[in-house]
Amino acid sequence: MRIAVLGTGVVGRTLAAGLADLGHDVTVGTRDPGETLARAEEALTAWRADHEPIALATFAEAAGDAELVVNATNGAATLDVLEQVGEGLDGKVLLDVANPLDFSRGFPPTLFVKDTDSLAEQVQAAHPGARVVKTLNTVTADLMVHPGTLAEPTTVFVSGDDADAKAVVTGLLHELGHGDVLDLGGLSTARGTEMYLALWVRAMGALGTPLFNIRVVR
Ligand SMILES: NC(=O)c1ccc[n+]([C@@H]2O[C@H](COP(=O)([O-])OP(=O)(O)OC[C@H]3O[C@@H](n4cnc5c(N)ncnc54)[C@H](OP(=O)(O)O)[C@@H]3O)[C@@H](O)[C@H]2O)c1
Repeated sequence: MRIAVLGTGVVGRTLAAGLADLGHDVTVGTRDPGETLARAEEALTAWRADHEPIALATFAEAAGDAELVVNATNGAATLDVLEQVGEGLDGKVLLDVANPLDFSRGFPPTLFVKDTDSLAEQVQAAHPGARVVKTLNTVTADLMVHPGTLAEPTTVFVSGDDADAKAVVTGLLHELGHGDVLDLGGLSTARGTEMYLALWVRAMGALGTPLFNIRVVR
């Protein structure tokens, strides 16, 4: 599948590499490819050296050519970035991993949208033609693509209003090694997985590592 991963942070880099390793045709989106490369941030330089075939393009170019778009941008910038993509999202599955974290008062972060709304719903409202599916925002980047590094199988969630789009995303999650994918229902259920971050950051503090996940035992 032709996939655009919007985001050059650890999540964008990790998902792009994981999806390319599975044989998908991946382009990574960024504000300004030249500026991003010139920044020559150590992690990005090392990632580029390891993943030469993955192209870097503007957010709009990357999404415009793709069949499926991954939103791995900073939550506070997500609506601005997706506005740049505009009609390039129409009809496409938009796999949204962004969290609405607000670090303006330090750590732990608060959420800039919660309870009665979610970032995923704001994305869907701004782009009615996109088929938004919230997933993977409840695990750290490495576990998105290597869930098997944990000692036991764990659970990830999908939320979305488009059943076919959820099926496409669930297929990708299975390809990535996620055996237990719990469909929570419509996109408003993303309020639950986004608000789970309040627990996630505290569990990370208690455990001293982000390498953990939960399993829903029926
Ligand atoms: N870190 C994790 O393990 C983890 C786990 C689950 C979910 N998430 C969520 O996944 C998303 C990505 O997280 P991350 O840690 O990889 O990276 P991040 O630092 O949160 O975001 C990096 C991306 O956001 C873009 N960006 C930042 N500020 C922007 C602005 N003002 N205007 C336009 N674009 C802007 C950057 O664009 P450029 O490429 O142009 O610099 C870059 O592509 C976040 O929403 C985060 O909450 C993270």
